Amino acid sequence: MKLGGVTVTPNLVLAPMAGVTNQPFRLLAKEQGCGLVCSEMVSATALYQGSKRTEALLYFTDEERPISIQLFGSNPQVMAWAAQKLEQYSPDIIDLNLGCPTPKVVRNGDGGALMREPERCSAIFEAVVKAVLCPVTVKIRKGWDEGSVNAPEIARRAEFAGISAVTVHGRTVKQGYSGKADWDLIKKVKESVSIPVIGNGDITSPEEALSRLEYSQCDGIMIGRAALGNPWVFGQIRSWLEEGRRLAPPSPGARVAMCVRHMNLLKGLKGDHLAALEMRRHAAWYIKGLPGAAEVRKHLVVAKSCAEMAAYLFDFAQKLEASRSC
Ligand SMILES: Cc1cc2nc3c(=O)[nH]c(=O)nc-3n(C[C@H](O)[C@H](O)[C@H](O)COP(=O)(O)O)c2cc1C
Repeated sequence: MKLGGVTVTPNLVLAPMAGVTNQPFRLLAKEQGCGLVCSEMVSATALYQGSKRTEALLYFTDEERPISIQLFGSNPQVMAWAAQKLEQYSPDIIDLNLGCPTPKVVRNGDGGALMREPERCSAIFEAVVKAVLCPVTVKIRKGWDEGSVNAPEIARRAEFAGISAVTVHGRTVKQGYSGKADWDLIKKVKESVSIPVIGNGDITSPEEALSRLEYSQCDGIMIGRAALGNPWVFGQIRSWLEEGRRLAPPSPGARVAMCVRHMNLLKGLKGDHLAALEMRRHAAWYIKGLPGAAEVRKHLVVAKSCAEMAAYLFDFAQKLEASRSC
């Protein structure tokens, strides 16, 4: 698919996930066959105030390209200023967050709260599109709540303002992550605009990816939670979509090796202590579902260094591989 002038092949997108889609994770997803990766969301206000922690979120490498940086905020002028600031880092795409349901974000009128303010959405779209040269995309939800489903209207406003593509997560903001994503609504959004539409919500397997794409006629799909500890999901979906071929799941040894590589890349970026802390969740995801994972997790969540974590993980993998070959 083509988003503005940016070619995205295959049409599989890694969802922006705050606290999760750090640079190493995006790189691994890309290597496994993801077509477009997205940063964690970045606050326009924090950028405006010169927050160094926020600027650190903007780090990416050329191997990740094409990459989209996601911005959240609700003041059109501040959003336009922040988008110009982002453009200095040369992302391929700037994405606007209109879906975050986190109370702290919504209370400020940002993220998902914007779904209640269509006029403000248009003002933000117009201000940001005018401020930058790169394509601007938006990520929206079904609506604020079931009584105010307005994703097709927001998508039309986006198209009118010159936005290059819309991603729709088929849940309302009020729903958070409960219930099911509404793919009938996603299909309606696709029928409402001529810019590319990326469908998002609850895709966990190659079969689901294919059936959702066929049903909604979306231009692409976005994967979030199914990629946690599982960057292989992109290769598996790609292989199924392009060749009808099912790839074997990674072995326990391959899962641990990927996790340790993720950890070492993160250590190079953030230092041993922070990397070990941040990897606790990721490590638990990498080994999820393996026999004995719950026991290892108890050690991982108290491990003080990357070396200590790696030792537990390798020992775990070795025992599993040995029991498999018996
Ligand atoms: C831990 C976590 C963090 C998230 N952070 C963001 C974010 O920063 N920006 C955003 O637009 N969506 C965010 N989301 C929502 C995802 O991008 C995606 O829309 C949602 O998880 C549904 O897709 P899935 O069913 O494939 O997971 C987040 C989701 C999770 C689970």
